[in-house]
Amino acid sequence: FVHQLADETLPVAELLVSPLRQEPHPSLPLPLALFGTQRPNSAGLDLTVPAMRDSLLAAYASTQVPSVPVFDAKLVSGPLEISTTSYKTWSKMPVTERAATLRQSADALQTQLPQFCALLVKEAFKTWNDAISEVREAIDFLRYYAAQAEAIMQPQTLPGKEGNNVLGITGESNELFLTGRGAWVCISPWNFPLAIFTGQIAAALVTGNTVLAKPAEQTPGVALAMVKLMHAAGVPEGALQLLHGPGETVGAALVAAPGVAGVVFTGSTQVAKIINRALAAKDGPIVPLIAETGGINAMLVDSTALPEQVCDAVMQSAFRSAGQRCSALRLLCLHEEIADHVIEMICGAARELVAGDPADLATDLGPVIDAEAFEGIQHQLKRLDVEAKRLPAQSEQAQAATNKVANLIAPQAYEVANISDLKQEIFGPVLHIVRWTGDPLKVIEQINALGYGLTIGIQTRIDSRAQALAHAAHIGNVYINRNQIGAVVGVQPFGGEGLSGTGPKAGGPHYLYRFCAEQTITINT
Ligand code: NAD
Ligand code: ALA
Repeated sequence: FVHQLADETLPVAELLVSPLRQEPHPSLPLPLALFGTQRPNSAGLDLTVPAMRDSLLAAYASTQVPSVPVFDAKLVSGPLEISTTSYKTWSKMPVTERAATLRQSADALQTQLPQFCALLVKEAFKTWNDAISEVREAIDFLRYYAAQAEAIMQPQTLPGKEGNNVLGITGESNELFLTGRGAWVCISPWNFPLAIFTGQIAAALVTGNTVLAKPAEQTPGVALAMVKLMHAAGVPEGALQLLHGPGETVGAALVAAPGVAGVVFTGSTQVAKIINRALAAKDGPIVPLIAETGGINAMLVDSTALPEQVCDAVMQSAFRSAGQRCSALRLLCLHEEIADHVIEMICGAARELVAGDPADLATDLGPVIDAEAFEGIQHQLKRLDVEAKRLPAQSEQAQAATNKVANLIAPQAYEVANISDLKQEIFGPVLHIVRWTGDPLKVIEQINALGYGLTIGIQTRIDSRAQALAHAAHIGNVYINRNQIGAVVGVQPFGGEGLSGTGPKAGGPHYLYRFCAEQTITINT
């Protein structure tokens, strides 16, 4: 079914991925997520297709979230030793064989899409549309990194081999090899418990490393299902181990363990800094850290923007996934001339959102992940009620649903006086709106000054202005005249700078290099 729909939209995909079709690797995979529901060419791989709805609901009825034992943090040396031993054989396998296990995993995940969607709805409270997008993204990571690894991990003869002459310009033979580094710790968040979890471990594994995966404590069931799928697809059990438990104990013990070759982390800026400090304090080698963290993401709208387009982009960016995306819009900067009109449209559209149980096919906005997140957001809302102007973004339906569904928060919108009023990421369906006049570059300067650099939306019909603002923003992902979520693997490499992370961008051409060691071999012939 998935294959069939993907084939129908192949010409569009060809067009969009064609810039990637260049040396050194001629055949990168077509991203499935390209047909995500937020894109105009979604081609029906979604809830509008009755067969899809039926298979999802059947999977929901039959799928149980597996229970996962909590690992004892005092025992991390055991799995680490297994990982280090397994590295000796896994890293020596040809990259094509490691890549084959990723492709096998992608195929299996594609077949089991309804079951994984059901797990995401049950354990992470995803809406069905979000669950479908997430499974597709995980499949894309597997296929993309498989192709990338095959492209970059071939030995390179450095200048200048010509014909049979292997001697370079130094009169010697010079070759560059990329290899794995050893046992990596992969620490992932609950908000993309499949896609980010899979992306991290796929990248580490395909480059020849072994993996100790520490999923978020809220979503170990999805992680266990994926690990089992990858073992069945040929990844050895010693090369991929799952250690479930609290970040402060199991995560911290893994980071501190001697012999860890690298850490890849996605989560809050605060925890990234704790891990960075812990790694810096360790004896022994300098351990690389890849950290992808949060954002206070803005959208800048000038007076030439199309109000309908702005409204649609805001709905998607601020309220999809109940605002629980690192990429989500937090701060809408509206030009004074159109502010009243756009605010009215946004509040009206927000009141149309159906809030409720994520398992219900009609639900647009489900609950936040748990009671702790709910309480934290309520605390912020109480502060905003005092410091800002509350806007009428909730319908009676949404208000009523909050009394029936645990941890459900109706859409929230507040007008604030200054950009600098935003001090921290509120990870939920809460939109701040600020008005501006004058030079938009000054607005970008204030957004830059927040220190985060993950996503920004720019809405204007002046092309030169869009370009100038995009290049002035110290921000990893810039979206012009559209929403600012749902980066597509291989097409829109994703990741930020400053407080938002270290790079390299996930789903981009430079990501795998950070998992590799490089070796130059020079032979005086
Ligand atoms: P979190 O930082 O609380 O937890 C992330 C992971 O770190 C979890 O597995 C947790 O158990 C672990 N952890 C916690 N303390 C630890 C410690 N001391 N040592 C080692 N590991 C520890 O984040 P979260 O609440 O799970 O996720 C939401 C955050 O993630 C938001 O800030 C969001 O913006 C960010 N995020 C960023 C991206 C991105 O690509 N930039 C993507 C998704 C989420
Ligand atoms: N990659 C996810 C997005 O772009 C976080 O929304």
